[in-house]
Amino acid sequence: MLTTVRKNTMLTDRIYRLTLSAPQVAADAQPGQFVHVRTVPPTSWDPFLRRPLSIHDCSREEGIIALLYEVVGRGTTLLSRLRPGDEVDLLGPLGRGFTLVPDRRPVLVGGGLGLAPLLFLARRLREARQRPVVLVGCRRGSDVVAIDDFAALDCKVEVATEDGSLGCKGMVTTLAEKHLECEDAVYACGPRPMLAAIAGLCRGAGALLQVSLEEKMGCGIGACLVCACPTPKGYARVCTDGPVFWAEEVDLRG
Ligand SMILES: Cc1cc2nc3c(=O)[nH]c(=O)nc-3n(C[C@H](O)[C@H](O)[C@H](O)COP(=O)(O)OP(=O)(O)OC[C@H]3O[C@@H](n4cnc5c(N)ncnc54)[C@H](O)[C@@H]3O)c2cc1C
Ligand code: FES
Repeated sequence: MLTTVRKNTMLTDRIYRLTLSAPQVAADAQPGQFVHVRTVPPTSWDPFLRRPLSIHDCSREEGIIALLYEVVGRGTTLLSRLRPGDEVDLLGPLGRGFTLVPDRRPVLVGGGLGLAPLLFLARRLREARQRPVVLVGCRRGSDVVAIDDFAALDCKVEVATEDGSLGCKGMVTTLAEKHLECEDAVYACGPRPMLAAIAGLCRGAGALLQVSLEEKMGCGIGACLVCACPTPKGYARVCTDGPVFWAEEVDLRG
């Protein structure tokens, strides 16, 4: 479907926030779902494959969605050149999102740009009258984005940076060790080793854990098996069985 760029804001030297007018996606989206984006106009085929990006924020009322992305290669470089009024072709919302757990304190854990799907989740949790604790980990303070948006939703935000330039010095797992309690429902997104460490902490604390996984994708709709990931019961497709899984459903060691 064709959507229209409202804004494409540079937040750091590598991270952008792309706001799109996309009423149908905004009406259907659930936190944790993603869109599969063609990074070139319909007349061009290079790069051929779409790029998966989480839905970072969403307003049904305004019919807009926001994507938070880091420029890492050809597709995201092309995205960074989009201007207001440009058209963007995307598929979505795709995949299985987060399940909101009532009656448990929500703890949202984001490593780097793993923070991307958590703002939309925080918004929906606030609508459900829950108040999330948001734990954010980045290499440097200059990589930390979007925390004001969580604060504006009245979430409690804690930051850890590896170089100690913002918040406490250490990894996001340092924060999780301090904060996790047995009655928590934890929602995590970030690098696989971080998710494995959080899974260990949650097992120890008796907290429930959902993780959002990243795998390279081809089709994004369950047909090509490029995104297969190991599970105790065989392989799952991250694009359709996920990207969000209960921690017990997947093998986080790989
Ligand atoms: C479900 C899901 C949600 C994601 N959400 C976000 C997000 O919100 N913000 C964000 O910055 N990034 C996100 N990513 C990662 C993002 O898709 C890649 O960074 C992006 O595809 C890189 O494209 P590129 O052309 O710039 O890089 P290139 O390296 O040139 O891409 C080459 C190929 O590898 C694939 N690829 C490269 N890195 C990844 C990766 N980490 N995950 C999946 N495919 C990859 C590309 O799709 C493309 O097919 C998400 C990935 C998945 C699977
Ligand atoms: S990307 Fe094709 S099956 Fe998942």
